[in-house]
Amino acid sequence: MVQPRSTCWKGPVCMLAGITVLVVSVGLVEGNVLAQGQESSAPAVSVTELMQAMIIPASNTIFNLPRDPPTDDDGWAIVRNSAVILAESGTLLMREGRAEDSEVWRATSRALAEAGEAALRAARARDADGISDAGNLLIDSCEMCHEKHWIR
Ligand code: HEC
Repeated sequence: MVQPRSTCWKGPVCMLAGITVLVVSVGLVEGNVLAQGQESSAPAVSVTELMQAMIIPASNTIFNLPRDPPTDDDGWAIVRNSAVILAESGTLLMREGRAEDSEVWRATSRALAEAGEAALRAARARDADGISDAGNLLIDSCEMCHEKHWIR
């Protein structure tokens, strides 16, 4: 008689086999993560590209808000999304292979993220003044990093 497949999972031998498969797959996944970790030392995206694609457009949205405050849900969603990009950009600037080994780089990457987080709190509360304050923190972080790291 052919055993139904489902009973296999109840037998100790089959369970062992299952655990072996699990251990091997975890090992493979780990191998993959390691391989990706090695790639992370040479990011495909340069700092200038990160500035152009994410940090400049997102910060422009924050800087322009006092002149052109959102009037509806969609407008606030754009501000919130920009704040999210900035809040996470600090981590992207600190990525291995991208981060410069300097205290200024670390401090201003963190300051950028903190300004983004402040903008995010203000955007969630639809607080235009809060966005202006976050914009002031933001511009400080840009300028302080560029002062040391902008290659002219
Ligand atoms: C942690 C450091 C750091 C922070 C923070 C930072 N930048 Fe940059 N930025 C750089 C570096 C490095 C370059 C590339 C300079 C070069 O290659 O000459 C750059 C380049 C730029 C450029 C020139 C891009 C181009 O097309 O050549 C602009 C504009 C810019 N950043 C805007 C900003 C703005 C706006 C902020 C803040 C919201 C900011 N940056 C925050 C490091 C930083």
